[in-house]
Amino acid sequence: MKKIGIFYGSTMGRTEKVAEMLQREFGKKNADVYNIKDITPDDILKYENLIFGTSAWGIGDMQDDWEDFIDTLAGMDLSGKIIALFGLGDQKTYPDSFADGLGTLFCRLPDKTNVVGSWPVNGYKYYCSSAEKDGKFVGLVIDEDSQPQHTEERVKLWASQLKKQLK
Ligand SMILES: Cc1cc2nc3c(=O)[nH]c(=O)nc-3n(C[C@H](O)[C@H](O)[C@H](O)COP(=O)(O)O)c2cc1C
Repeated sequence: MKKIGIFYGSTMGRTEKVAEMLQREFGKKNADVYNIKDITPDDILKYENLIFGTSAWGIGDMQDDWEDFIDTLAGMDLSGKIIALFGLGDQKTYPDSFADGLGTLFCRLPDKTNVVGSWPVNGYKYYCSSAEKDGKFVGLVIDEDSQPQHTEERVKLWASQLKKQLK
């Protein structure tokens, strides 16, 4: 498998923690982790396998540093790259916009052809999520606020699925 670039935006450290858990699953020599606020487009372009992660901050809102970077990403040529997404949210407090950051991140990708890593909605309780498309989430959804007990198994399962889908 080619090396993976994991890019996250995180305000309180939870998305960062999940990014690091994912890196451990793939092995440190197979995956690099970056905070989206510290990067340039070249950092993204050097990887064939990309994982982007954001938390949610209101209806349709990504984490602030992703909000700052998204216009740059939307203008980039990511054709041919395999992309997987993950999002954090809190279904108990924000059931009307659960994991909406993930939904917006997907929506703003310049090329959705090679997006992998959809995830079942079973096991979550919410009313609306822009991350849900055709009965599935567009990527891994983690809820460290109201379901932290599931984080580890979800990360492990998703990473094992991705190993078959990445280049
Ligand atoms: C002001 C505020 C607004 C939030 N809005 C949402 C939301 O609309 N949907 C959601 O699922 N989670 C929402 N959350 C929960 C965060 O996405 C969640 O706590 C996440 O784990 C934070 O990750 P981070 O520390 O990596 O930024 C909100 C949290 C705060 C404090």
